[in-house]
Amino acid sequence: MKITKICCIGAGYVGGPTMAIIAQKCPQIQVTVVDLNEERIATWNDEDVNNIPIYEPGLSEIVKEARGRNLFFSTEVDKAIDEAEMIFISVNTPTKTYGKGKGMAADLKYIELCARQIARVSTSNKIVVEKSTLPVRTAEAIKSILDNTGNGVKFQILSNPEFLAEGTAVQDLLHPDRILIGGDTTEEGQKAIQALVDVYANWVAVGKILTTNVWSSELSKLTANAFLAQRISSINAMSELCEKTGADVNEVARAIGMDSRIGPKFLKASVGFGGSCFQKDILNLVYIAKSYGLNEVADYWEQVIIMNDHQKRRFSSNIVKTLYNTVSDKKIAFLGWAFKKDTNDTRESAAIYVADDLINENAKIAVYDPKVSYKKVLADLDYLQTRTADKNAESIVSFENPYKACEGAHAVAILTEWDEFVTYDWQKIYDAMQKPAFVFDGRNILNAAELEKIGFVYQAIGS
Ligand code: NAD
Ligand code: UGA
Repeated sequence: MKITKICCIGAGYVGGPTMAIIAQKCPQIQVTVVDLNEERIATWNDEDVNNIPIYEPGLSEIVKEARGRNLFFSTEVDKAIDEAEMIFISVNTPTKTYGKGKGMAADLKYIELCARQIARVSTSNKIVVEKSTLPVRTAEAIKSILDNTGNGVKFQILSNPEFLAEGTAVQDLLHPDRILIGGDTTEEGQKAIQALVDVYANWVAVGKILTTNVWSSELSKLTANAFLAQRISSINAMSELCEKTGADVNEVARAIGMDSRIGPKFLKASVGFGGSCFQKDILNLVYIAKSYGLNEVADYWEQVIIMNDHQKRRFSSNIVKTLYNTVSDKKIAFLGWAFKKDTNDTRESAAIYVADDLINENAKIAVYDPKVSYKKVLADLDYLQTRTADKNAESIVSFENPYKACEGAHAVAILTEWDEFVTYDWQKIYDAMQKPAFVFDGRNILNAAELEKIGFVYQAIGS
């Protein structure tokens, strides 16, 4: 089956960039990305491509090239579904905030709505691709909805999880380590798999396209995120031990990373991982394990989250402790609010939790982040519902100039590893701060010797 029209439901951090690359690499395929969120679609269509809703290095250039040619953003969901031979579901799958599995299980309501909409609208056979990260065996539920329309339309369901990381999405999509496609072992299932392989084969070497059964594919995505997050919690656990023993976590990471069995990547100790997926996916894994009665498996993975929460809290308590056990009415400057560099995404960012802890201690926080607005900072704090929105607005401000954010501060905390922070004039920052001037480097990006020479009291993670 040759694909000429693709529809993607969900124009978010995954749907937008993924479809932009497919459109760029497959000019013969018409790609329509649809979303219920009218504002989001309007900004994807903004005349000035620099205003698209997602900041990712290199993305606006690709959107500029393909948009209007074979890449379209629209709110006409039904039309795009019916026209397409292949439909990607790329909607959000957040942690449930209500009912059974609250705080653990993935909320599949948006997925089910998509399946029902596809079932209702389709008048010709479709391949439905799960792009969202889903609990293992979700395809079964989608299949049961799609197979019971009674209108004779046939559906094939594939699992094709996405492994891109934010901030490097374009490069990850252009040069993926692998593409994973899970499908039915039946003849029709294999044909559907081949149709999707053919799409990726436009730019990915066939040897890197891995095909499996649906359940292996679904579970591999949760497993990959669990392993990645586990490495961070493992090195962060060691960072606390380093601080007690005189070892340096950067040296330990280098030493173990040179073992080819361990490898050097993802061993950066930090204030804790953030992002919309690691925590959500591990909680979901824990929930699935528990639902099969596998309590030891569940407890094992839950420790990754427990360690990460501890690392965030440890960072804020250390600030309070070091500032003579009180931060009340003290100005603490935050450099960075995004959950990692090169993205405007702040979901589950460690900065939010550190700020929340410090505001509980009556600190005044001044934020500078090159890509995050004050509105977003406030919305992130309000979402926690720790205190009123007015109290949050009184306790935190944001600046468009990093030097202004640091002026008069008792301490600077580095929450995101933006490259520009390293090149700042730290002497100038020091001169304008209260003394003693403290720097708490939650990302280990600054040069300790240089800062100490200037006069800062400098504290990193794990040394
Ligand atoms: P997102 O919140 O940025 O985007 C999801 C979009 O889907 C939203 O714009 C929402 O309005 C839209 N939507 C929801 N229900 C809809 C419906 N019924 N019809 C039309 N539109 C609808 O989420 P995201 O970060 O792109 O993540 C999507 C999925 O991909 C999640 O399952 C996530 O776990 C997974 N994932 C995310 C990343 C990442 O880096 N963000 C990477 C890999 C996988
Ligand atoms: C992660 C995975 O890396 C992707 O493969 C996956 O597709 C994605 O989740 C997803 O499913 O959503 P992402 O969260 O965008 O991608 O970014 P990462 O680079 O993984 O960083 C996650 C968090 O861990 C960030 O807060 C980052 O600062 C932190 N981190 C990362 C560390 O603290 N130390 C490290 O060594 C690496």
